[in-house]
Amino acid sequence: MDDLTTKNELDNIEQNVSKCFGCKLSKTRKNAVPGSGDYNAEIMFIGEAPGANEDEKGIPFCGAAGKFLDEMLASIGLDRSKVFITNVVKCRPPENRDPEYDEKVACRQYLEDQIKLMKPKIIVCLGRHACVSLLPGQPSISKIHGKALKRPNGIVYLPLYHPAAALHNGGLRQTLIDDFSKLKPLLEKINKEPQKKDKIEFKQETLI
Ligand code: URA
Ligand code: SF4
Repeated sequence: MDDLTTKNELDNIEQNVSKCFGCKLSKTRKNAVPGSGDYNAEIMFIGEAPGANEDEKGIPFCGAAGKFLDEMLASIGLDRSKVFITNVVKCRPPENRDPEYDEKVACRQYLEDQIKLMKPKIIVCLGRHACVSLLPGQPSISKIHGKALKRPNGIVYLPLYHPAAALHNGGLRQTLIDDFSKLKPLLEKINKEPQKKDKIEFKQETLI
């Protein structure tokens, strides 16, 4: 992403999300949460849906789970201004219930457009919901966490446990930290590969 038109299109998506009435979550949200970070980031993190803190501030992952995510980013020499962070669903489900099918469908185009315009090299799927939405047909997160998967769009997806789920569960927490440490070597490996002119040319999904 380096031209002004693309930046304008991404800004437009954020403005459209902020005033979106595309599903019933618009009735209960305080603030929609379009995403935040660097449009040129090589890594995009995608969570489930905003919680109470995010709804209050309009910023993704700004509560306890976000603090844990910030710590893991710091451990690999990154901070949130150098990545892009967003969610499958951009408005908070009441009482933090799971996002429903119709809400995910209604919100899907925003995420797809963000991915298409930003063209990240790695998409980190945080938790079951992001995995199910972004990696259709894959086994459950307990089987695929920490295993990078190149999709036909040429982007490498890394499924991780959700930081909120791992926060207070010792075993999961360590697994998440271990999986997270694969991110930097994975990016280095991708950056060493010869640049493909057209990202769509990967035909086969391959576990790497
Ligand atoms: N959990 C999520 O999935 N997303 C957020 O933005 C915050 C918590
Ligand atoms: Fe629109 Fe998505 Fe918010 Fe629903 S969750 S109102 S589709 S931005």
